[in-house]
Order: sequence, then C-alpha cells, then structure tokens
Amino acid sequence: MKIIGRKIIHFDSISSTNDVLKEKALAGEHEGLVITAEEQTKGRGRGANCWLSMRGKGLYFSVLLRPQINARDVGIFSLFPSIALADAIAHQSETKATTKWPNDVFLTGKKVAGILGESSATSQKINFVIVGAGINILHEQKDFPPDFSDSACSIKSATGKTVDKFELLHEILFRMESIYSQINNFADWQHLITDEWMKRCLHLERKVIIKNNTFSKEGIFERISTTGEALIRTENGVLEKITVGNFSLRET
Ligand code: BTN
Repeated sequence: MKIIGRKIIHFDSISSTNDVLKEKALAGEHEGLVITAEEQTKGRGRGANCWLSMRGKGLYFSVLLRPQINARDVGIFSLFPSIALADAIAHQSETKATTKWPNDVFLTGKKVAGILGESSATSQKINFVIVGAGINILHEQKDFPPDFSDSACSIKSATGKTVDKFELLHEILFRMESIYSQINNFADWQHLITDEWMKRCLHLERKVIIKNNTFSKEGIFERISTTGEALIRTENGVLEKITVGNFSLRET
C-alpha cells in the first residue's frame, strides 16, 4: 500500500513546509501528505538555525507520518529519512553520498542536505512525525553565506550534475516508502535502521568532536545505538551516549 506521497501539495512560496504541515497534522490530516515549496520565507534548520531556501535552487519538502511505534523509538525512527535521501541523491548524481549524525547528507565532504524531524507524542504514543528536508540542488558556491561556503555544497556545485528536482523528490519518496513499510512490518526494524544508516556513515570509526553551547565531547564515533544516540569512545575508554539534539559534529 502506498502511503508516502499519496497526496502532494505544492506551494509557490510559504513560510516553512514543516510549519504548514504541522497545522494540517493538528487538524487531523492523514499520514503520507507531502508539502513542497518553490521557496520558503522562514525555512528552519535544527536548533535555532535558519535554512536558506532560495527560489529555483533547492528542494524543500515535508512529509507527515503517523508511525505506530513506541515514543522511545522516535530517535532512531527520525534517522530513517537520511538513508532514503542519501541513496536517492547518490543515484541521481552518480556520486557517493553519506549520512552524518544525526540527520545530514554529505556529498564530496560537504553538506548537501539536512533534515528537520519534529514530533508530537504522549509518553507512550506518537501522534505524528513531520520529516522536513532541504536539499541544495543548483546552488553555486557563491550562493552560500560566507560562513558556510566551505562546508556546504549543492548537487550541481559538487558533481556538475543538474538533477531534476521532481524526479529527485519522487525517488526520495519511493525510497522512504520502502523503508517505512519495513518499519511497519518488521519487529526488529530498529536494528535495520542502525545497520543501514551506519553503512552510509561519513565518520564511522573516525575521530569526531560533538558539541553545543554548553557541552563538548571528543572521541571515536563507534556506532549509533538502536535508539539513535551517537556512541563516542572517549580517550579514557568510556563509551559516551549522545542523544539527538542540538549538537554539531565534526571530524577532528
Ligand atoms: C538542518 O540541517 O538543520 C535541517 C534543515 C531542514 C530544512 C528543511 S527545508 C523543508 C523543511 N521546512 C523547514 O522549515 N525546514 C525543513
């Protein structure tokens, strides 16, 4: 049964596809609805970040899901779209794409896409999850703000390929559908997501530093847990568990 993308609403210009989809979710919309926009005027990234959403340059969309999973599994669940994005971007650009914890996709060592997952849940049950994705497709390096021009790329700037944004969207939705149906039908789906995510990971077994405003941890990125945390082996041999949150991760 096809769920993801059974209804797609395309906007020319909106504030944020996540925000508009959240209103629809709260109003009782069925899962599978996808909202896309040519441009966003208030595109949001993780934490307090903005997401540069220039008209004609990128793909900006959000998907509404109502997974029948336990609320404690939302961390690992939120990592599954990056597998679909990485594979679709790799296929369309004919270039290897990798996942970076928690929810980024990299091409040629630079960030090409980010995912903002937002959920509403009680202590037990998920009400809905919104998966919002932004993919840089046609940007030239000079389109990125100076602070990001060394760390961000578009499919075009990294590979020279001009991919069709709607073809890419359909491939992503198709791949998300396939993983989502395994989540719905496979008891041990958490292991499946960790394994598939790690196969594509940019920094597996590499030295990384994870930090936010108040916290900093350095060590070897050993793996992710079946609840989506990053497991970092620090210099003193302790395995630190970092929960998905507003952290930045970089290789040292
Ligand atoms: C990040 O890397 O910080 C996540 C970026 C997510 C951006 C997308 S664009 C579509 C959707 N709507 C938003 O406002 N944000 C997400």
